[in-house]
Parts: sequence; C-alpha cells; structure tokens
Amino acid sequence: MATVLKDLPVPQFGFRRMLEDDVRVVAETERASYTYPWSEGIFRDCLRAGYICRVAEVDGILVGYGILSVGAGEAHILNLCIRPECRCRGMGGKMLTHLIDLARAGGATDLFLEVRPSNVGAVRLYQSAAFQQVGIRRGYYQAENGREDAVVMRLALNP
Ligand SMILES: CC(C)(COP(=O)(O)OP(=O)(O)OC[C@H]1O[C@@H](n2cnc3c(N)ncnc32)[C@H](O)[C@@H]1OP(=O)(O)O)[C@@H](O)C(=O)NCCC(=O)NCCS
Repeated sequence: MATVLKDLPVPQFGFRRMLEDDVRVVAETERASYTYPWSEGIFRDCLRAGYICRVAEVDGILVGYGILSVGAGEAHILNLCIRPECRCRGMGGKMLTHLIDLARAGGATDLFLEVRPSNVGAVRLYQSAAFQQVGIRRGYYQAENGREDAVVMRLALNP
C-alpha cells in the first residue's frame, strides 16, 4: 500500500545540553561557519566555566548550538550557529528564542551580544527578535584587512 503523506514521520526538532562528546561536531560546524572559528578548546572551556551551552538536534543529528553566559542580572550570547546546510529554515530563530528564555529564567533583565556589521543575516535575525543596537566596539574582531568593529545589541527582558 502506498505511503500516505500525512502518515510520514515528522522530523523531531529539540534542544539539549551540550556535552563534551558533542565538541568535535560542534567545532566542525564552527569551522564551516566562521572565518575565525573558535577552537575545540574554547568550547571545552565554555562547558567547564559553567556557561549555558545548548545544542539543537533534528532526529538526533546536531544542527546547531548556542552559548550563553548569565550573571549579575545580565546575559550575553557568546555564540549562536546553525549548520550551513540547515539554515534559512527557522532553526536560528528557534535557538535564539531558546537562549532568550534561558536568560530570562536565569534572572537577567538585559541580554547583550556582539555581531559583525557585515554579518547581515545575523543582524536581521537579532533585529527580528527586537534586539537594538546600543553601541560599537571598535576593532573588536579579527578581519582579513586588519580589524572589524562589532555592533553591540541589547534586548530588554521584561519580567
Ligand atoms: C545567523 C544564523 C544563526 C541564522 O540561522 P538560520 O537558521 O538561517 O536563521 P532563521 O532561518 O531562523 O532566520 C530567522 C530570520 O533571520 C534573518 N536571516 C537569517 N539568515 C539570513 C540571511 N542569510 N539573510 C537575511 N536575513 C537572514 C531573517 O530575518 C529570518 O527571518 P525570515 O526567514 O522570516 O526572513 C546562521 O546564518 C548562522 O549560523 N550563521 C553562521 C554563524 C553566525 O554568523 N552566527 C551569528 C554570530 S553573531
């Protein structure tokens, strides 16, 4: 009997804590995504430092990750990345919402992040979640021809 479309399995998307065992795949995704990627060691340091480290999975396959620090009423998104082949399907937005929820649950009233102004997709993503530019950090990032500024964005987290 032919499979009925409505009966096909629905891909299961979800989040879970990042584990040491994920770091190799996370770092692979990082290298495929950034010109100046974090090393595996930086991800391990994030886990040991107690940052909130999450991965997103579809049917048990790691498709992205997010790293958040929360303290003293403030939270910072330190990294947010979706595997290149999985982008533009709403997963970055879901991970961002997840990090916002975690920051709020951690008691933060403000959520900050830095982004390269040249990273148009990421800037759009943050603007669509109501982040607003609150400053510029001059020469913050390594870049091909010297340094690139960072745009500092903030989201007020209403209690
Ligand atoms: C930025 C990133 C996380 C977005 O993930 P994604 O899964 O593609 O994002 P989504 O599909 O959830 O997109 C949500 C919104 O973001 C914006 N957006 C995302 N990618 C975009 C792009 N390439 N161009 C324009 N807008 C984009 C859009 O507003 C989009 O909403 P829409 O689909 O209704 O137009 C992903 O591109 C990525 O991992 N990039 C490499 C790592 C990185 O730069 N991280 C950010 C560091 S600050």
